[in-house]
Amino acid sequence: MNFAPTEEQLMVRDMVKKFAETKIKPIAAELDRTHRHPEEICRQLGEMGIMGVAVPTEYGGAGMDNVTYVMAVIEISKACASCGVIVSVNNTLYGHPVKTYGTEEQKHKFLAPVAGGKVEGCYALTESSAGSDAASLKCRAELKGDRYIVNGSKAFITNGNVARYCVLAATTDASLGYKGIINLIVDMKNTPGFHVGKLEEKMGILASGTAELVFEDAEVPAANLLGKPGQGFKQMMAGLDSGRIGIGAQACGIGRAALEDAIAYAKERVQFGKPISTFQAIQFKMADMATELDAAELMLLKAAWLEDHGYDFEKEAAMAKYYASDVAMKAAIEGVQIFGGYGYIKEYPAERHMRDAKICQIYEGTNEIQRMVVARKLLGTR
Ligand code: CAA
Repeated sequence: MNFAPTEEQLMVRDMVKKFAETKIKPIAAELDRTHRHPEEICRQLGEMGIMGVAVPTEYGGAGMDNVTYVMAVIEISKACASCGVIVSVNNTLYGHPVKTYGTEEQKHKFLAPVAGGKVEGCYALTESSAGSDAASLKCRAELKGDRYIVNGSKAFITNGNVARYCVLAATTDASLGYKGIINLIVDMKNTPGFHVGKLEEKMGILASGTAELVFEDAEVPAANLLGKPGQGFKQMMAGLDSGRIGIGAQACGIGRAALEDAIAYAKERVQFGKPISTFQAIQFKMADMATELDAAELMLLKAAWLEDHGYDFEKEAAMAKYYASDVAMKAAIEGVQIFGGYGYIKEYPAERHMRDAKICQIYEGTNEIQRMVVARKLLGTR
């Protein structure tokens, strides 16, 4: 077993780490306060290949692997969790289905600009009454001639307010259940009958837009169908397997930021005549945070490695996602505790880490759904 990253992986990780520390971290508090989409950061990450890390170079990506993607998302999320999820959605939720199921023409037209970081992509699956039960979605797509006429709305769509393209999950016939679901690529700036609806006000990841998408007799070319009718749900599940590794990496980055900030603070904060880092009560918290985050990172790298080498990674991605987000949440809470009263005010980033960590236990499949995915695999019921 070889735990050593390749030279290329290390080079990209160090490049992203440097960029994140010098360009993203200094503006993270401002992004959180203003809820501003980090446009300039996205464009620069695009130039670095980080908006499509595991996308082949001929389709605008960096042509690297998913292990490198995990390393990059951890470093970005350590600096800013909102930037982390924007990158993750671009790479996997949007990038995975288009890369995997798109035709050559679709990949050149719709993947290259997103993977190359010129514009953002998003994935429109969730609806107000179809969250964990993804197969129950109601958004309808009716084939008429050379186009699909789409009616319905999507909720909680990350990047929905800024994206140029989305992969839209819709049903051609709800009576078919999951077999009626298709994925269509939608040009969000050039589709009659489509508009972005309300923008959600959230607890955390405030610089990442979460929007409603509305389709009213929206016309989408039939040529934008991914794969064949009836395959949409399985495409979606496979994309989520990949996406969950990205969210685990985002969580891991947030947890690491909470730990690093807590260590720096504890070394300086003096109580009872000594830095609080000398107290065992504080040391044990840090030791647990570091141990659990290291375990999470190993699980994420393993899941990514399995994906890179063509193995089934569904269970490992679900395990890594829920473990990483659970321990990141715990680390963020302990981080606030170590900061004491200063952890509860906005002068320090500890409270932001806590707000940002929570969503990782919820989106791309709640941690309860992840446990269900793992249990089904263990029991052989899927
Ligand atoms: N890969 C390929 N195929 C899969 C699969 C996978 N991972 N999982 C299931 N399938 C197949 C099944 O084998 C089955 O096919 P067959 O009938 O041919 O065997 C078919 O898909 C239906 O599967 P299930 O019966 O298991 O489907 P289900 O309705 O019970 O749902 C679920 C399973 C795991 C609960 C799924 O609905 C799920 O993952 N729900 C969570 C939804 C989710 O993650 N939403 C996230 C939204 S995006 C987001 O949050 C992004 C963001 O903001 C950043």
